Amino acid sequence: MKEKSTLVFATNNAHKLSELRQMAGDGLNILSLADIGCDDDIPETGQTLEENSLIKAKWIKERYGYDCFADDTGLEVYSLGGEPGVRSARYASDGHDSAANMALLLKKLEGESDRRARFRTVVTLIEGERTTVFTGEVKGVITCEAAGCGGFGYDPVFKPEGWTKTFAEASAEEKNAISHRGRAVAQLIEYLNKSRFDNKC
Ligand code: IMP
Repeated sequence: MKEKSTLVFATNNAHKLSELRQMAGDGLNILSLADIGCDDDIPETGQTLEENSLIKAKWIKERYGYDCFADDTGLEVYSLGGEPGVRSARYASDGHDSAANMALLLKKLEGESDRRARFRTVVTLIEGERTTVFTGEVKGVITCEAAGCGGFGYDPVFKPEGWTKTFAEASAEEKNAISHRGRAVAQLIEYLNKSRFDNKC
């Protein structure tokens, strides 16, 4: 039987975990922080998505010893100079309150005709001594009001380029196929599959 690789995904976000497991398929055994008994509040003190994803992955590798990966995502709105960016989770308050974050964003964009935005994800993988970084992005616009109840975070106000609906109105499969995290994770999975294949030759 083919041996499965085990990796820890340094997140407590159930939505992300299920998105990721769905994309990874059977070849990878993805453990959550809960699976390894970690309930640390990992500090996200970086000034960029790259710094934060590295901080989270290093935290797990150094304290728990597992090969792992971490992601950090930001919504970058062009007319707001890239806001909320690295502060996406805590835009309105420290409470990770998606409804408040969206309300603040819609308020800041009131009357604004340039509503272009992108989601950007940075994934940092640490295997043994090696660190590898993957990035993915999806462009779109911020709608004038929220629509849909799927997904999480800013999904109800983000309409990808060429779509007539928001991420929150799409199925998980539709979103994963084009999303920022989907694209970054597709690269991660391709890389892992290739390195497993190379190691066997
Ligand atoms: P994180 O650092 O990857 O957890 O993402 C920071 C914040 O960006 C989250 O708290 C969400 O508000 C937002 N976010 C991340 N990924 C998504 C997504 O796929 N859809 C909508 N919002 C997201």
